[in-house]
Amino acid sequence: MSFRDAPLICPICGNLLTQQERQLLCANAHSFDIARAGYVNLLGSYKNSHNLGDDKTMLHARRAFLQRGHYMAILNAVKRIVAHLVSVRKSSVPNRSLRDSIGFTTELTERFLADAAGDGAMTDGTMTDETMTDGAMTRPCWVADMGCGEGFYLHGVMQHLAGSIRGVGLDISKEAVRLAAGQNKAGAFAAANINRQVPLADQSVDLLLNIFAPRNAAEFARVLAPEGFLVVVIPTAAHLHEWRAALTAQGATPLPIAQAKQQRTEHQFSDYFAPYPTRQNGQAAAHVHEVCYRITLDQTDLQNLLTMTPNAWHIAAEDQKRVHSLTQLSTTVSVQILTLQRGPRNS
Ligand SMILES: C[S@@+](CC[C@H](N)C(=O)[O-])C[C@H]1O[C@@H](n2cnc3c(N)ncnc32)[C@H](O)[C@@H]1O
Repeated sequence: MSFRDAPLICPICGNLLTQQERQLLCANAHSFDIARAGYVNLLGSYKNSHNLGDDKTMLHARRAFLQRGHYMAILNAVKRIVAHLVSVRKSSVPNRSLRDSIGFTTELTERFLADAAGDGAMTDGTMTDETMTDGAMTRPCWVADMGCGEGFYLHGVMQHLAGSIRGVGLDISKEAVRLAAGQNKAGAFAAANINRQVPLADQSVDLLLNIFAPRNAAEFARVLAPEGFLVVVIPTAAHLHEWRAALTAQGATPLPIAQAKQQRTEHQFSDYFAPYPTRQNGQAAAHVHEVCYRITLDQTDLQNLLTMTPNAWHIAAEDQKRVHSLTQLSTTVSVQILTLQRGPRNS
């Protein structure tokens, strides 16, 4: 749990939250307890809703599945892309007054300026790990994971870029952020409904991750700094194709993957974001990178896979029993990673 300087805002009044002992507090004295497990609940008026994302069973199945390494190649590709974009970000953020260049809310700007002058930056003539090494960026580089689930991707990215970024994870499910905070002590995790207001300050984040999770283009654009980056992972029509076919053969009807998902996703973001091509593995520069490989799943993996997706809610119990009798299956993992960049201010 590390809420120090996290750009979280109050879900009631929108003021910046600051940590005081085991609470986050805003200027209007709204307070939010930091749970013993290390996350904070910023669901606000949404906390009594029935639709609170993935439940405990799904999340534990997801964690077990991810820990078997089946999506490690996706994580590795995300790590490479984020490392590149963070280095671009760190070398391109102009070294002028943050007040002029970043446009945070006043209170946040003051705090970052104080940090830049104090413990967040040059103390003995050198930058801390969290700040830029060539003098261009004078505040921590924030990465926020929208719909972080049990935290697999943000944790992996933060470990990979050890100390050079700060991380925030948001998910509507309290169990998700509880698991994420338990694993990743350096991250700041909050329960929040990203379909409504994202509880992050305007233009406070350098890079957003959005992996198999809901998207809110206007809010993502609001919280990203100008020319900040958005990395979106979506499944292609081929993703888990053989597994879907096996479910169908067992009489179950799996949820479909939307047609033309890449085009639809890009269209969703097109008012605020532009494609940002990067070069990966020596290939031509592109803003869409495909990750495609085969995995072999045993019976436990197959049970976890069914349980961790909303398919578990949609497939009748008898059909699920038949599916659970599958003992082994080889299937395709196929996703696209989109890299987009926030347009200049006010676009
Ligand atoms: C398919 S899971 C992906 C989780 C994670 N990104 C991963 O790939 O492991 C989708 C996640 O989005 C969360 N979610 C669904 N609706 C949400 C909302 N309105 N606000 C925030 N999170 C939401 C769910 O609780 C779930 O953890």
